[in-house]
Amino acid sequence: MMNKKIKDIIAKKNKSKIVSLTAYSKNIAQIIDKYVDMTLVGDSVASVLYNYNTTRKISLDTMIEHAKSVRMGVHNSLMVFDMPYNTYKDKKNALLNAKKIIKKTKSDAVKLEGGSKIKDIVKHLIKNKIPVLGHLGIMPQSVRGKFKSKGKTDSERTKILKDAKVLEKLGVFAIVLECIEKSLAKKITNEVKVPTIGIGSSVYCDGQILVTDDLIGLTNSKIKFVKKYINISGNIATAVKKFKQEVKLKKYPTKKYSY
Ligand code: KIV
Repeated sequence: MMNKKIKDIIAKKNKSKIVSLTAYSKNIAQIIDKYVDMTLVGDSVASVLYNYNTTRKISLDTMIEHAKSVRMGVHNSLMVFDMPYNTYKDKKNALLNAKKIIKKTKSDAVKLEGGSKIKDIVKHLIKNKIPVLGHLGIMPQSVRGKFKSKGKTDSERTKILKDAKVLEKLGVFAIVLECIEKSLAKKITNEVKVPTIGIGSSVYCDGQILVTDDLIGLTNSKIKFVKKYINISGNIATAVKKFKQEVKLKKYPTKKYSY
């Protein structure tokens, strides 16, 4: 039987936009969980928290620890675990790791980067009742150097559309479209029955996802599609400066804050 949260996400197609964000810890997860349909423990944690120049460097065990923390804060949204590089090399390896992820983190689903190239792996996971979120367009685990948007050439467009249809046929419950040119994102969204979740892929997708740390201004991301809705770094700095001042002036801790 299909997970109710997954059913609800699929049912939003053509009705209501799907809202999705990343979380790497309980503290962030419990704030966003009230507002999002899907919480992704993204392998973007590699660059956002560990300063790696590629998502390839984050290990499965590190991501599992982050996901265990996130799980404590997620009560309403669908929790998806982004399978890191080298953890779905073949069918056997993918299933073993996906089972470990679900057992240890109680995630509802996993995300894998790729289309036709990983079709046997996606098929095997779904056959074994592991819900899969697809990911096409820019696939950070395979990119070296600068990220460029996708769907500018005819051959690239044909390939991405074909991949989306392959994933749909295999039974993924939704597909993340990363940095895909808007008319192609629109075409994919119109031609596949499962929802598309865009990141830098225009308003035509069925939903949107961003990295929470970017959206709240904890990172200084300059990526075109990143909109900072608040500068939380500024708020933290204000609080820390106040604390420093009060410590220096012996204004903290007062009686109220002492035993
Ligand atoms: O790792 C990640 O955060 C992602 C995104 C889709 C935001 O894959």
